[in-house]
Amino acid sequence: MQRVITYGTYDLLHYGHIELLRRARSLGDYLVVALSTDEFNAGKGKKCYYSWEERRRMLESIRFVDLVIPETTWEQKVDDVARYNIDTFVIGDDWEGKFDFLRDQCEVVYLPRTPDISTTRIKTDLHQRA
Ligand code: CTP
Repeated sequence: MQRVITYGTYDLLHYGHIELLRRARSLGDYLVVALSTDEFNAGKGKKCYYSWEERRRMLESIRFVDLVIPETTWEQKVDDVARYNIDTFVIGDDWEGKFDFLRDQCEVVYLPRTPDISTTRIKTDLHQRA
């Protein structure tokens, strides 16, 4: 079985997220999503609309997602790849080159982002329309 992992916040779930998850899952048979916790996001100055628990439930209802785990630190990736026997690490190409250090442990794939959609853009667009 080929096991894939990806990381992200996945707030205000949108079709760019679904496309990322669909393509990530197609690289293997089992997809783990490490979902940024509210505390981890707070450290990055990010505040989600949906709580971690709400985001987890939404991700778990997507057929491309097999397991959701918490992302609590930047450093956990090396441990996660070992613990979950990961073959492929996947993330959008906004992170191009940032996780090449994992190539010692597994394949690293940067997928092109879906154009013209992001959580930030949804928030900005809705704010402007209000
Ligand atoms: N992603 C993507 N295409 C988009 C938006 C996101 O492929 N249009 C990918 C990201 O590259 C990442 C994953 O989806 O691998 C989760 O991204 P996340 O940062 O949670 O979503 P964004 O919409 O980019 O959120 P923000 O605007 O807060 O940065």
